[in-house]
Amino acid sequence: MGLKGVLIVFEGIDGSGLTTHSKLLVERLKREGFKTGYTKEPTWGPVGRLIRELLLEPSLDHEVMALLYAADRLWHLRVGSCLGRGVLEALGEGYVVVVDRYKYSSMAYQSLGTDVEWIGEVNRGAPEADVIVYIDIPVRLALERITARRLTSYYETYERLSRIKENFEKILENAEEKGVKIVRVSGADEEGKPRTIGEVHEEIYKRVIDLIRKTKQ
Ligand code: TYD
Repeated sequence: MGLKGVLIVFEGIDGSGLTTHSKLLVERLKREGFKTGYTKEPTWGPVGRLIRELLLEPSLDHEVMALLYAADRLWHLRVGSCLGRGVLEALGEGYVVVVDRYKYSSMAYQSLGTDVEWIGEVNRGAPEADVIVYIDIPVRLALERITARRLTSYYETYERLSRIKENFEKILENAEEKGVKIVRVSGADEEGKPRTIGEVHEEIYKRVIDLIRKTKQ
């Protein structure tokens, strides 16, 4: 991608454990001596804060949301992130940047109400990731976790998360065709029961470290 660093993004439906696992991965990579940092979307910048406010409304406009997420993303890439500067700058310095949600979330979520090609177009300033870590969990389990934890937001219903999960399948396929490496990990066992955090983390770490070594060669 012309940048020295590695862009690793975590994707999945709400409640799949993206924040837990992206932070664990960063801690592990730091212990292994990598220059690395965690950051997330929506951001805590001006547009990200507005997005969070809108998510608590009972209804929303998907195209307005797509544009806001895209604006927030450009801000994240070019202006500010949890790393104290834009993500692109950190990548230019050779960082392994781990992002908790990225443009693939826009494609999966906002395509509930508008077409995915247009979402891709408004996100054309956002480069493809090097690696997508996709955590796959049943919608029922995701909802159990979310409702036990906090207030639910607009997308967090059985019907919407089921559609978003289906959307992700197509999006991952398209990303793979563009050369993005996909690390698909199951957050639940065959009976739909959650796997332990440690077990899922080990799997993610082993597969990602392998890809980082290949990307850095
Ligand atoms: P989330 O990561 O769940 O934020 P937090 O950890 O602060 O609760 O993101 C908030 C919601 O935004 C979540 O439902 C996914 C959604 N989302 C989109 O719809 N499109 C996007 O482009 C992104 C980044 C997130």
